[in-house]
Amino acid sequence: MRIGWRHLLFAVLGLLAAAVLVAWSGVFNVAASSGHWRITEWALHAVMQNSVHTYAHLAPDPPADLDDPRNVLQAAGHYESGCAWCHGSPLRPPPAASRHMTPPPPAIINSARQWEPRELFRIVRHGIKYTAMPAWIAPGRDDEVWAMVAFLRALPEMTPANYGDLAFGTETAAATDDRLLSACARCHGRDGRGRNSAFPILGGQREAYLVETLRAFATHRRRSGIMELAVDGVGEDELARLARHYAQQKGLGETPAEASPPGARIAALGLPEAGVPACESCHGAVAGRNPTYPRLAGQEARYIAAQLRLMKQGERGGTPYAHIMHAIAKRLPDDAIEALAAYYASAAAPSAAGPVGIDGSGR
Ligand code: HEC
Ligand code: HEC
Ligand code: HEC
Repeated sequence: MRIGWRHLLFAVLGLLAAAVLVAWSGVFNVAASSGHWRITEWALHAVMQNSVHTYAHLAPDPPADLDDPRNVLQAAGHYESGCAWCHGSPLRPPPAASRHMTPPPPAIINSARQWEPRELFRIVRHGIKYTAMPAWIAPGRDDEVWAMVAFLRALPEMTPANYGDLAFGTETAAATDDRLLSACARCHGRDGRGRNSAFPILGGQREAYLVETLRAFATHRRRSGIMELAVDGVGEDELARLARHYAQQKGLGETPAEASPPGARIAALGLPEAGVPACESCHGAVAGRNPTYPRLAGQEARYIAAQLRLMKQGERGGTPYAHIMHAIAKRLPDDAIEALAAYYASAAAPSAAGPVGIDGSGR
């Protein structure tokens, strides 16, 4: 018996040595141009599919509002800048360079028919090893990954015109006057009003806050796969110019117009029993003690609530003052978050033409 085990050991060691020799000698062909043998391709795909099926059990539950059209809109522009150059889109097939990768990125227009939501989450959140498929840029942003899943689920029904509208809004690829602003405007509008409540309002926000926030995205201190990609490679001067542009637009007001308790009461007085200070002492019209503190009046409710939840979970970086807000958000009960978001969103934007972002014009 002992001899038998030894033989086995030597055989295994011999095989390992042979594998190392082949790898080290350079005989193994890693050229993408040669593709995979049919059997290798089949085996790799089976491994990938099984792995996705298995690990999808660890994915969080999909949010109740998964298929909300605002999720689809929020992810569409990002798909165009971050995914279409490999996978193609309803407007164009996968580009030539990506067709020469091994494996080539599949045209995923119909992937949602093949994968469950949790499986799509798993793929988009973590990427696929040994292929070109990247992980989501911002690890803590499951909410953004779910928005992308919602987009992928809507993709099979999307016409090229629908897709163009979602991904570009009123900005066409032909906008050449200010390419950078045009890129931001696909999601935020040139006037910074956002589009159909899927994006935060930038118009009228404090310039110092916008500058510091863009810097925080660019240095990954504030995590958002969507915004980190949008500012990737954009210089400091350009970021400052864009911040000035948006700060000069109309939009966010300074004084909430309608008093809608209980949000109004918490904003004015805080929650002393929970150790929450008055929001208005920093975010109000007269507060202004620090130009880097953002305006909230008139901001989208959905965005305010999402940011407060991220701060509560410790997933929201930001300006050098962000820690002040984290301490406050951690003490905010969930029902207070909803009430405050509704209250601040109800503020009238000063001299704004019509309601913000719900005119359906795609702006
Ligand atoms: C650099 C190229 C590249 C980029 C960029 C990329 N992917 Fe992929 N993706 C791939 C490749 C390659 C595969 C195939 C992996 C495999 O077959 O194992 C893949 C697979 C997928 C799949 C599974 C498709 C199927 O039906 O099997 C989905 C879904 C997907 N990607 C979504 C995305 C999304 C969403 C983005 C943007 C956030 C993105 N990908 C960005 C290369 C890319
Ligand atoms: C693909 C869509 C998209 C593009 C393009 C885009 N943004 Fe954003 N932007 C978003 C989303 C989504 C958020 C919310 C991020 C979050 O949830 O943390 C955001 C957040 C922001 C914020 C933070 C707002 C706040 O109140 O804290 C600023 C500032 C901003 N964007 C500026 C820009 C600028 C400038 C550009 C162009 C360089 C740009 N964005 C391009 C989608 C986009
Ligand atoms: C002591 C000052 C202070 C108080 C009080 C305060 N905040 Fe803040 N808040 C800040 C600072 C500073 C930021 C900027 C965080 C960053 O760096 O992005 C902020 C950011 C925010 C944001 C994100 C805005 C955006 O555009 O992304 C929301 C939402 C917010 N606060 C809500 C509240 C609410 C609701 C209250 C009351 C319960 C409150 N804040 C009380 C200082 C304060």
